[in-house]
Amino acid sequence: MTPLLELRDLVRAFPVRDALGRAKGAVRAVDGVSLAVAEGEVLAIVGESGCGKSTLGRLALRLIEPDAGSIRFMGEDLRALKPADLRRRRRDMQLIFQDPFASLDPRMTVEQAVSEPLRLHGIVPRAQEPARVAELLARVGLRPELARRWPHEFSGGQRQRIAIARSLASRPRLIIGDEPVSALDVSVQAQVINLLQDLIAELRLTFVLISHDLGVVRHIADRVAVMYLGRIVEEGPTEAVFRAARHPYTRALLAAVPGQGGRDGGKAIPLEGDVPSPIDPPSGCRFRTRCPYAEAVCAERMPELEGAAHRAACHLQDRLPPPRPPAEHDAGGERLRRLQAYFTDRHIPTTTMGATKT
Ligand SMILES: Nc1ncnc2c1ncn2[C@@H]1O[C@H](COP(=O)(O)OP(=O)(O)OP(=O)(O)O)[C@@H](O)[C@H]1O
Ligand SMILES: [Mg+2]
Repeated sequence: MTPLLELRDLVRAFPVRDALGRAKGAVRAVDGVSLAVAEGEVLAIVGESGCGKSTLGRLALRLIEPDAGSIRFMGEDLRALKPADLRRRRRDMQLIFQDPFASLDPRMTVEQAVSEPLRLHGIVPRAQEPARVAELLARVGLRPELARRWPHEFSGGQRQRIAIARSLASRPRLIIGDEPVSALDVSVQAQVINLLQDLIAELRLTFVLISHDLGVVRHIADRVAVMYLGRIVEEGPTEAVFRAARHPYTRALLAAVPGQGGRDGGKAIPLEGDVPSPIDPPSGCRFRTRCPYAEAVCAERMPELEGAAHRAACHLQDRLPPPRPPAEHDAGGERLRRLQAYFTDRHIPTTTMGATKT
């Protein structure tokens, strides 16, 4: 089956200038990313701040131009489309931003904001616009009479619902949500995530979720891609990645979140030190400067993604200790094992352990 979206070897760098405006290098924000998203799939892109997630999302929709690589969407080469054809294609792909303040024009009523894409793409005849707007508002859990109001009259969560209604107006096939809930109150985040999840199922949307909230990602994504300094270091089905992360970086990310596993049987992997500068990334594997397992080969050669459905770019992936299951599922067993180790070290028989009543 051909994927709905297929990115191949995408590269995008941004020039870095000194105080006098002279070019002094380039940030390789996305540096050789290949990724396919199947129709109806929810793919999450995760990674620390600055690793290139937003840049990748914008490249995928050709909102910014890549320096190299290809983007195929619905079987078409997006880079080859003329501006008019690209505009037409845009109705099928939408972006939801983190900040609903920034994405809604304060001078447009809700009705105007939601009907603008309807008109732009000629989705319904003009006379049917109010009815369609009311329908879209209902679909995102807002009362249709709110259509006459202005964005500033709404809470952050409501505003994000309006932004979602607007993005649904053109009946897109693909939506990219760039941290769609992280600017919202924690209490509202779950509601908006549930709404997104319902919409994905109901409208059979293909959704790319950019997020650093691994709890949310595990909850709604079918597949996860982990980025580090402009490259994908691991990619696979969500549960496989969470239960048995292959890349030390993924394990470190998971270990930073309570209850998400990621510790491994060997060394604990704290994410210490700063992310290296993307202007001058380390040779070979970019994670090696923070990786507790790094060997000589890691500095010499850049690892490629290896594997079938679950892939990782790590020279040592077959030699790492197996990941340990999340502590929350195994807290009792873990304590018992530690206790047993204590007694074994001191040559105390442990056969009666667990039988004592206290
Ligand atoms: N327009 C730009 N001009 C210059 N540098 C940029 C530009 N956009 C992004 N960058 C740089 O590219 C790198 C990747 O940025 P990007 O916004 O894609 O990261 P991100 O993973 O989305 O981070 P965050 O989680 O903080 O949103 C960063 O080093 C950033 O400073
Ligand atoms: Mg971002």
